[in-house]
Amino acid sequence: MLTLIPNVLDKDTVRQFRARLDAADWTDGRDTAGTLGAKVKQNRQLPARSETGMALGNHILGMLGRHPLFMSAALPHRIYPPLFNRYSGGEHYGLHVDGSIMPIPGSHEFLRSDLSATLFLCEPDEYDGGELTIETPFGAQQVKLPAGDMVLYPSSSLHEVTPVTRGTRTCSFFWIQSMVQSEEQRTLLFDLDQSVQALTASASAEQKPTVLQLAGVYHNLLRQWASV
Ligand code: NI
Repeated sequence: MLTLIPNVLDKDTVRQFRARLDAADWTDGRDTAGTLGAKVKQNRQLPARSETGMALGNHILGMLGRHPLFMSAALPHRIYPPLFNRYSGGEHYGLHVDGSIMPIPGSHEFLRSDLSATLFLCEPDEYDGGELTIETPFGAQQVKLPAGDMVLYPSSSLHEVTPVTRGTRTCSFFWIQSMVQSEEQRTLLFDLDQSVQALTASASAEQKPTVLQLAGVYHNLLRQWASV
């Protein structure tokens, strides 16, 4: 399932991010790719320990923690510190699959990548190409979102970033280990949670106990399926 998470950052914050990212030092993206990835990856990244990257990454994590749609869709257990990449002049990242187990920088912990996230920091009309193309059971889906919006997709999917032929594409990207490893179970929980929330908003007094019972079903399924 692909989930669009709108307004992770507002336009003002995106502008501030862009100013800081424009002033930062970018390095070859191949530095952090695995052996297979390095063969198809051509872009630039902020070094993982970059002061700018860490400050902006922490800001993103703070915003995500307060974003109900993100929390409902991802059920995050661990989040990789957000990284930043940039493509221009034909740069691209060919078809690949993200690493499954990653050491979390600055800790002794590992993260299992269940979900991959791309947060767009440029408007779609600022560049040509640069579509994030994700293979899904229903065919390849192309994603190019307004600045401040984010897409979540299963880390198990093959995906690529097509060549950027005009302008510059800047994004943040990171991975999430979910409390619910199974994509199928996570999707069921998300659908149930969204339905319960919609019903809660519109339920009459006599419907309220039934909605409460449904909310109970959600939490009891989560209790069964989550590992924390
Ligand atoms: Ni990737």
